[in-house]
Amino acid sequence: MANQYDLVVLGGGTAGYVAAIKASQLGMKTAVVESSKLGGTCLHRGCIPTKSFLKSAEVVSVMKNASAYGIDNETPTFEMKNIVDSKNKVVDQMYKGIHYLMKKHNIDIFEGHGRILGPSLFSPMAGTVAVEDPDDDEAESEILVNQNVLISTGSKPRELPFLPFDHDLVLSSDDMMELDDIPRRIAIIGGGVIGLEFASMLNDLGSDVTVLEAGDDILPDEDKEVSRTLKKSLSGRGIHFETGISLDENSIKVQDGSVKVSLDSEMAFDKVLVAVGRSPNIDDLGLTNTKIELDNGFIKTNEHYQTKNNHIYAAGDCIGNLQLAHVATKEAVNAVTHMADSDPYQLDYNHVPRCIYTSPEVASIGMTELQLKAQDISFKSHKIPLNTIGKAVIEGNENGFGKILVDPETKDILGVSLVGPKVTELINEVALAQFLDASALELGTSVHAHPSISEILMELGLDAEGMAIHV
Ligand code: NAI
Repeated sequence: MANQYDLVVLGGGTAGYVAAIKASQLGMKTAVVESSKLGGTCLHRGCIPTKSFLKSAEVVSVMKNASAYGIDNETPTFEMKNIVDSKNKVVDQMYKGIHYLMKKHNIDIFEGHGRILGPSLFSPMAGTVAVEDPDDDEAESEILVNQNVLISTGSKPRELPFLPFDHDLVLSSDDMMELDDIPRRIAIIGGGVIGLEFASMLNDLGSDVTVLEAGDDILPDEDKEVSRTLKKSLSGRGIHFETGISLDENSIKVQDGSVKVSLDSEMAFDKVLVAVGRSPNIDDLGLTNTKIELDNGFIKTNEHYQTKNNHIYAAGDCIGNLQLAHVATKEAVNAVTHMADSDPYQLDYNHVPRCIYTSPEVASIGMTELQLKAQDISFKSHKIPLNTIGKAVIEGNENGFGKILVDPETKDILGVSLVGPKVTELINEVALAQFLDASALELGTSVHAHPSISEILMELGLDAEGMAIHV
């Protein structure tokens, strides 16, 4: 017999499980279909495990550099297996938490592959979901008839056509989750967020790291001074960069158990990590049974996250706006709120914090100078070095800075970029300021605890009115 639901969520990652909780809070009978593990990329292969690895790397770095704090240096020793175990402990705890929340909200979980059916004897509209057992073609599918579907199937690492993942020498970020050993020499293709976080971590743990980036700069979408400053800091730690490179099947080869890269000279590596973006998981979802359209390979939605079939929504990495967990959850909550005929706060993609957990950290929000210029929007830029802030100096800041871009007329905050210790926490204050429509002066006038690194935001706000104290 078919099961009846108000909402069936395809994919129980960050977008999907949060959508299910929201739907349950709004009184909707909800099911989640998940082919792997609840929590998705963020919990099992992305945000949480990588930050746990980065924490282990930070401990190593602090021990190596202890003399900067008047403590005798200690040479840390570690086994990768124990670092992976420590990561697994965190992941397991959060995983149990999601199961608890699903139970608490009476959400039904179906394990298997969800496929959307066209109009059928179950419903005259496309959208009924069949849950298939991927290991048993003969098994009968569970049928989930519903009022609404949310597709939140996420994304997967993008492969280079001339360098397919072999999960041994050619690795994706997924493969990094269960590393047995730290590679002695590793090439990382892609100087974006994933590539640089792994570069920072592996360097702290003792790898010889080379980043191969096609663009002229690492982090091509961030402020140019941010890219240059981060590159300088990471280079200072011994990470090697090759930018503006073009790789093909002739310049990179897997040969005799190692990876050979021929650019100006030939380099050999034990492993290569490919981090050149992520593609949507949309294969085999039954999209051809619906009117759903794609845009550049991603599922196309309107501002309410509805596809061309109004009752089928999509959110998160599979729609390809900003591929960030915190964007996915907001999109999913807004989609469900719209299903329930309520009016959600529209997500302003210009008010979304972007964080890179390298050492030093990078955090930004809003537009960069280049983006403002491209759109002919006038702005004034104010930059303050972090070495004016006592707590940042204590934390070990080298080249860090804060930059604020403001509208010269209204003094609205158009963008902020930060490089330095703990800035991934600070940027949320700017997100709140933007959400509340605070001006730069209001940011600068509000009281900030001393000593705290957040004083940089107060100084930036004041500087926008020519009133900074410590510059
Ligand atoms: P990305 O788009 O951030 O960076 C990919 C980089 O690879 C770019 O710099 C690009 O120029 C370069 N590239 C592309 N093709 C290349 C080639 N053939 N050779 C050399 N370089 C090439 O993608 P990434 O780092 O894979 O991350 C995927 C998504 O996941 C991003 O949207 C990112 O924001 C998100 N993410 C966010 C995290 C966070 O918030 N801390 C952590 C990890 C991922």
